[in-house]
Amino acid sequence: MAKQLFEWDYSSYPGAKKYPHLFEPIQIGNLIIPNRIKYAATEDNLNSHDGFVTDADVAYIKRRAEGVVGGMCFMQGVYMDEARKGQGYVGQAACWDDKFIPGLKRLADAIHEKKAVAGFQLMDCGRVGAVEVDSGHAPSTVPQRLRIFKPMYEMTKEEIKEMIQQHMNAAKRGVEAGFDIMEISGIVGYLVSNFISSYTNRRTDEYGGDIRGRMKCVVEIIQGVKAVCGPDIPLGIRLCAEELLDDVRGNTPEESMETYKIAEEAGVDYISCTAGWQESIYPVISRDIPQGSWLHLAKRAKQHVKVPITMAYRLFTPDRPNKAIGDGELDVWEMCRSMIADPLMPKKVLEGREDEIRHCVACNLCLARLFRDAPMTCYINPLCAHEHDEEFYPKAVEADDKKEVMIVGAGPAGLECAYVAAQRGHEVHVYDNRDELGGTLLEASRAPYGDDELMTCVNYQKTMCEKAGVEFHLETEVTEELIQDEMPDTVVLATGPTYSKIQGSGGDRENVVNVLDVMSGKASVGDNVVVWGNRKPGIGVALHLAKQGKKVTIVGKEKTAGFDINPSFKWRYMIYLRQNGVNAYNDCDIEEIADKEVVAKTYDGYRFPVKCDTLVVTERKANESLKNVVQGEGIELFVIGDALVPRNLSSAVHDGYRIGVRI
Ligand SMILES: Cc1cc2nc3c(=O)[nH]c(=O)nc-3n(C[C@H](O)[C@H](O)[C@H](O)COP(=O)(O)O)c2cc1C
Ligand code: SF4
Repeated sequence: MAKQLFEWDYSSYPGAKKYPHLFEPIQIGNLIIPNRIKYAATEDNLNSHDGFVTDADVAYIKRRAEGVVGGMCFMQGVYMDEARKGQGYVGQAACWDDKFIPGLKRLADAIHEKKAVAGFQLMDCGRVGAVEVDSGHAPSTVPQRLRIFKPMYEMTKEEIKEMIQQHMNAAKRGVEAGFDIMEISGIVGYLVSNFISSYTNRRTDEYGGDIRGRMKCVVEIIQGVKAVCGPDIPLGIRLCAEELLDDVRGNTPEESMETYKIAEEAGVDYISCTAGWQESIYPVISRDIPQGSWLHLAKRAKQHVKVPITMAYRLFTPDRPNKAIGDGELDVWEMCRSMIADPLMPKKVLEGREDEIRHCVACNLCLARLFRDAPMTCYINPLCAHEHDEEFYPKAVEADDKKEVMIVGAGPAGLECAYVAAQRGHEVHVYDNRDELGGTLLEASRAPYGDDELMTCVNYQKTMCEKAGVEFHLETEVTEELIQDEMPDTVVLATGPTYSKIQGSGGDRENVVNVLDVMSGKASVGDNVVVWGNRKPGIGVALHLAKQGKKVTIVGKEKTAGFDINPSFKWRYMIYLRQNGVNAYNDCDIEEIADKEVVAKTYDGYRFPVKCDTLVVTERKANESLKNVVQGEGIELFVIGDALVPRNLSSAVHDGYRIGVRI
């Protein structure tokens, strides 16, 4: 008899009317899930380095459990071997002994407290593992393509049997800890996928060979785990529908669909459809891949198996999954990064508060941090991974402590600070000399390859400011006189950066233009362009102009172009620069500007000419204006965002939040 763990009635909610398919129940195995929402398993590196669950992880998951409004909330994948070959992240939760059960139980309890279905994931990281030991295990000894990973050695048959048993033991512990649904992670290069792929499984025994042979250990894991879990705990598996490893002779899409059928035959109750490996040379989930790009894989999967198909992968808004479910092309909407960025995302959808969603901008900083052994953070959600820390939450101010706050600059730093301070009870006024909100993000979001999604941050902040009663004063220049007239208690300077001047000769020429004027279309730009500055603003404008057919060269002081872009995304930009014929001279500066060329100079003094009709300045520095005025009046002062130190959107948001909490 199928059972439902918690009662949910969505009928009175606006989101259930707008997206009816998302809020219909579904039966998975013998469990009835009240809706079609699943928070996908997410490593966060928040647990102790010996695998015990921490307060930080419990608080993190509890918030996401609240967000799924009765749906499935999965904890991160656990590693299962004492030798730690399967451990892929320093703060990954472990499950190789009963001593881990109490900590895991805290996670299950936290999920249940929010009336959500608690999901447990088994994840031996295989080829991506051995993060704390010298070498890892794999079906075959195939060298890694990514340098950060450890060498892998071929497992013996005994070791394979032991690994299958480890999955069974861990699953049993997960059930004892109170989890309701079990999942095997077989994606992106973890051990199960290593066995399945022709790229990494070169075995000649019964655990290798054709796709059935390569699936043999997976079938044994499925059958073993099912046996220990019993009929009341549904079992799912995450499987690649397309590995995107053609260049190294990975599985064909047909073979991948074969794995779905074999997993179904072996007894799984659902399949989570995934795409790509960490070693794929194709982008899968970064911002340059349009949302919804992978949904066709779920549709294809549904044509091959009868069990429910769940899928994440750039489904950042409810409309696409709602339609796909309605059209019979998907069964459950999964989310990972959308709920890192906004843990209450689906709850807000249900409650008709979509304008209050802080959307993920698919920058992959969260992933980049994990691979560098750092606790996860989110580019645009300052509270992420601090859910347990009271100090991080905005606290209402006492009536006597209420202040009049003047924020100068309506970019992401100023807006973030504004709504947080206003929510706490301060009277907040935001000034900007532009006629719209967004600051320099208005120009930055015109860069190609998905940067328009960056504006979702400002849209969210605008809504939050309006709801918190922030007053806007647009088209208003803040001057010394204005500050003296208003005499606020606090001034926050969020004015954005100033742009540097070229020191060599020709810096004042007419063919020297500013990046903002280029991006907004105000400046006219010749055919041969030199962009001064090799950080993200330089790369953005270079690609923007190259797409218009200009011949663009970047000259910048950093040792590598895009040094300020996180590594999990930077590789994309390096490819796009090459594809668009943009040449970058790094570790260089500009010495002289003439009519048709500039003279660039390497760090060790070598000079060379570069053809140039127009030079675009993107080098920035801190903005000192108004600081002395505010300090001279004895007014409390904060400087945030690029005005403090030119950095990126993330720093702007995080600065704004921290000062908003502090004023
Ligand atoms: C920070 C981070 C941690 C992840 N950890 C896991 C994990 O523990 N197990 C797993 O199967 N997938 C993991 N994934 C993959 C996600 O569950 C998801 O499949 C992927 O991010 C694509 O979905 P999205 O576009 O909604 O983020 C992780 C992804 C991210 C970004
Ligand atoms: S760090 Fe970037 S990719 Fe990760 S959730 Fe936050 S915005 Fe999305």
